Parts: sequence; C-alpha cells; structure tokens
Amino acid sequence: MHTGGRVMKDFMRTLRLAEVNSGASTREWIAKPGGGELAVFTPSDGSRIGTVLQAGPADYDKVAAEALAAFREWRLVPAPQRGLIVREFANAFREYKEPLGRLVSYEMGKIYTEGLGEVQEMIDVADFAVGLSRTIGGPTLPSERPGHRLMEQWHPLGPIGIVTAFNFPVAVWAWNAMLAAVCGDTCIWKPSSKTPLTAIAVQHICNDVMKAHKLPSIFNLVVGRGAAVGEQMIMDRRLPLISATGSVTMGRHIGEVVARRLGRSLLELGGNNAVIVDASADLDMAFNGVLFGAVGTAGQRCTSTRRLFLHESIADGFLARLVAAYKRVPISDPLDAKTLMGPLIDEGAVNDMLKAIAQAKAQGGEVLVGGERVARPGSYVQPTIVRGPRDMAIVREETFAPILYAFTFTDIDEVIAQHNSVDQGLSSSIFSRDFLNIERFLGPAGSDCGIANVNAGTSGAEIGGAFGGEKETGGGRESGSDSWKLYMRRQTNTINASRAMPLAQGVQFDLE
Ligand code: UN1
Repeated sequence: MHTGGRVMKDFMRTLRLAEVNSGASTREWIAKPGGGELAVFTPSDGSRIGTVLQAGPADYDKVAAEALAAFREWRLVPAPQRGLIVREFANAFREYKEPLGRLVSYEMGKIYTEGLGEVQEMIDVADFAVGLSRTIGGPTLPSERPGHRLMEQWHPLGPIGIVTAFNFPVAVWAWNAMLAAVCGDTCIWKPSSKTPLTAIAVQHICNDVMKAHKLPSIFNLVVGRGAAVGEQMIMDRRLPLISATGSVTMGRHIGEVVARRLGRSLLELGGNNAVIVDASADLDMAFNGVLFGAVGTAGQRCTSTRRLFLHESIADGFLARLVAAYKRVPISDPLDAKTLMGPLIDEGAVNDMLKAIAQAKAQGGEVLVGGERVARPGSYVQPTIVRGPRDMAIVREETFAPILYAFTFTDIDEVIAQHNSVDQGLSSSIFSRDFLNIERFLGPAGSDCGIANVNAGTSGAEIGGAFGGEKETGGGRESGSDSWKLYMRRQTNTINASRAMPLAQGVQFDLE
C-alpha cells in the first residue's frame, strides 16, 4: 500500500519537496509568490498530496527579467562549454533518476517503469545536447563574386517559454530545455497545473547545478494558472519562442497569440495515431506493438495508438487475442511492480472517456471489451476496444484515454486514405513484411504523419529523431535531428575579402 503520507514523506526527503512549496523560481525560490494556492492530487487514490503557491503577474515578471539577464551572459559562453554544463545537468538527472521517476509515477499515474523511462528520456536528450554542442554550425556556400565568402551562422535566440502537459511532466521540458541550453538560450517553464510537484523537484535539482557552477539563471520555473501567467508568458515580447505541448485548442490559441506579435511557436499538439496490420504481418509483433501503444500510459501519450486497421483475413483472430489480453491487463496502483495500467489523470479524464464510449455506441460502435470505470478509489478505467463502422464521428477526435477503435480493410491504398482522413498527423505505423505495402506507406502518397514506423508501434520514440507532427498536430519538431535550429536565429554573412565592390546579379551602379 502506498499511503499518501508515507510516500510524500519519502519524496520530501529525497527530492526536498518540503523545503519550499513555492511555484516560482529563478536560481532561488521566490518565497511567497502571489498567484494563490494550487492543490495537488495523486490519481492513484485521488488523495491530496501537496499545496503549491502559484506565481502571480509580478512573480512572472521577476522571473522573465531574470531569464533575460541570464540570457545576455549565457549566450556569450562558447557552445562546447555550454555542453559541458549540460553534462552536469545530465549527471544530476542520473543521480535522481529513481526518486524522480517514482514521483512522476505517483503524481501523474503512469507505471513506475514508465516513470523511470521518462527520466531516462531527460538523460538521453541531455547527452544528445552535449554532443550537439560541438556540432551546431552552418554551411559555407560558394559566392558568385570573386574574393567573397557566403556563410551562415547560428546565434542564440533569447529566453524561451516552455509550456508542458501533464502526461510527460518532465521529459518534454528536457527535450526543449537541454537543446535550448546548448543553443545559448535560457528557459522559463510553465508546467501543467496537474503535475507541479515533479517540476518543482526538477527545479531543485537545476538550482543545485546552477549554484555549484555559479551559472546565471538558465532554467526558471513558473507554476501558475494558464489564464494568468500563461497568457502573460505567451504575450511577452521578451520571449522570441514559445514551445507548447497540449491540446489542439490550447495550441491554436497560443499559435494565434504568438503569431500576432510575430514571435515563433513550436507546437506539439494532439495525435490520432493508427496502426495498419496487413495480411503479411508478423502477428506476434503487431500484437505487442498495439498492446503497448493502446494500453501503455493508460492511453495518455500523444503517440498512443487510437485506431487499428486490420486486414480482413487476420482481423477476427487478432481481435480475439487482443480482447483476451485486455481482460488480463493488471490495473492497479502505478507504483505496484505488477501493474501494467495505472489510473487516468483525474475525474475529468474518466468522464471524457465514458462520454466518448457512449458516443461511439450511439454511432454504431460495438464495445468488444472494457468500457467501464474500475470500482476503486482513484481514476481507474478499463482499457477498451470498440469495433465500428468507418464513419463513426468520434474516431476523428483525440480522447486522452485507453480507447482503441478497430476497423477492417482489404485494399492498401484505401486504408492509407482512411488512415490519413483525420485532422491530426502525429504518429503512425504499419506492421507488414510486404515490401510494396511498406514502401506505399512510407512514400509521398503514404502516411501523412510526422512519424511513420514499420514493424514498430506508434508510441515510444527515441530522442534521436525529430519528434512532432503535421496538420492539427501543429507542425513543430522537438528533441532529435536538427530541431535545435528552432532554438536559434540564423544569420547569413557575406564577407568581401577583395579590393573591389562588385554587386550581385551583375548590377552596375557607378556614379560618373
Ligand atoms: C507525448 O506524449 O507528449 O514517443 C510525448 C513517445 C514518447 C514521447 C511522447 N517518447 O511516446
């Protein structure tokens, strides 16, 4: 049994949560921020586990001023040296992996191994950023003019705003923050109000590193209401980039507000991810991929598998096996080692799930398994499969819960069209050993998502690839590959090392 009192006492010791209940910090905590109290609950049994004093407008302003002052210093530190500092953060995350992973599990509800995996994702992206710090650079291009050099350099951008969601309460911050830091930027983090304790724990760790290395305030925190400090942050002209993860509704608003001031936004919004299993697929692999994608994290990843397209010839057998497995999924306390599915984040999420199931039924869907909440304290539900007609309207929506909609198909082109017919475009996958189907899926007329996998599920991406999606998913790319470019400003330089002043395109402009 994990009683709130005992577990929290442990976190107070290991993560110093008791030292401060302030939700606003530069290198130092703001003692009594003015944004009012925020009650924090664990979805594992619904009990209250903490109170945080939120940042108010004046606190936000103080934090933003500090982040800007820190940027002016930090941008002058050479990138490889910034990388060495990021290595210190990576080491600190390694040191705290166990208690931080456990707190992620306790506050958010994902199972313990996924909580640890999330902290591992922070470590991985920090390591990636360390390597990056010695490689960021631009090309030198041939100039058309004699004695001229044309080149590009990348400069630090500014203090950036990071808005994160409850479902990855620490990893997504790290995707942004670690890259931003090697790029010479400073950060202001506004975490989800559903998971402020993990953010406070991370800030404690960062404050230690910043103090030990006498750094300016690279990483800063404001826990606060979206309608208050959230708005203040996205309108703040001091922040050239706002990186936000969350719903399409939230992202559309942020995108509009930031665009109005001609700022840059990096949006990672909803997904409606599907798996296609064709007649040639290795069905054991497909089974494992779909089970983790749809049931893992209780369906609360933006990459969770929400739609399943099965070739008619394998559909009945595959679904029967999946239904049997769904009935055996251990649903319990996320910190219990045997649990595979923890609770949803809160009662609102349970209601959204039950509403979606009711709509699916009304639209002709048949619930093959699940469909109910689980009778125990906390926000627990059964993982659910609905088989339905293709035109069920509910399928077009992202419900952040473990509902999998299953369909059958016969023709590969037709199923790809069906796959692409939703508004979101994050992750997708095909299970197949048919070269032609695989290449169709990966080709220009194939999956329209930012992520398209073959014989691997829709969720659980590594940090090395660029992460993000198209259409209403927002178009942003975070984490790996060249997504660092979004955190920097590009400058094109023409350097004339000749004694003449020729103009480009052969234009003559000589005064007689
Ligand atoms: C998210 O749900 O916002 O690919 C991020 C994955 C994880 C990240 C998910 N590495 O499932």
